[in-house]
Amino acid sequence: MTAELTYHGHACFSLEGAGNTIWIDPFLTDNPQADVRPHEIDQADYILVSHGHGDHLGDAIDISRRTGATIISNNELAVYCQDQGVDAHGLHIGGGYQFPFGRVKMTIAHHGSTLPDGGYGGNPGGFLLDVDGKRIYFAGDTGLFYDMKLLGEEKAIDVALLPIGDNYTMGPDDALRAVQLLNPRLVVPMHYDTFDVIQQDARAFAERVKATSGADAVVMIAGERLVL
Ligand code: NI
Ligand code: MN
Repeated sequence: MTAELTYHGHACFSLEGAGNTIWIDPFLTDNPQADVRPHEIDQADYILVSHGHGDHLGDAIDISRRTGATIISNNELAVYCQDQGVDAHGLHIGGGYQFPFGRVKMTIAHHGSTLPDGGYGGNPGGFLLDVDGKRIYFAGDTGLFYDMKLLGEEKAIDVALLPIGDNYTMGPDDALRAVQLLNPRLVVPMHYDTFDVIQQDARAFAERVKATSGADAVVMIAGERLVL
């Protein structure tokens, strides 16, 4: 069994695994890096949303409405989505649930989560996903936190998706420290270059990961697919 991960720019990924298509933070409409438009998405079974900011909630509700996909997020955001008439499953930090495609556990993220309409979006988070025997850590928008060490110790992480943009999240230096705490097999940087204030040299970051940790690093471009 293999899971396949596709990057769509910013913090948006799709994952094919266990016969399901799982989207993460589907910010597509206003995402200058996106390789797909939301109306082109016809495969979506679940949509993970890390927090309420527009560059993460993105097109989740529209995609869910059209495909019937279930949104998975913190409980406040799940209720907000349900109020918009779509199916949603609320988790909360430290809690996990076994979905048909695998287990999802919500992890902490140090950030905000206000909804695009100004409403309260609950706590921001990240996700640990176990799909087809692979463990994927999607950090969400967060600063560095030492508890990443606990995440890495729990079970080996196959791929860590880490923000490197700085300004709103960790920058490359802190993301490098995150790699040391998480000890993943592979690192994929995200949440950079989309806006002027988060321009970064992702390739230089990847080289630093390879030089200073036991992890490999891959810079994905939008539309690129990776077999895990
Ligand atoms: Ni954010
Ligand atoms: Mn963001």
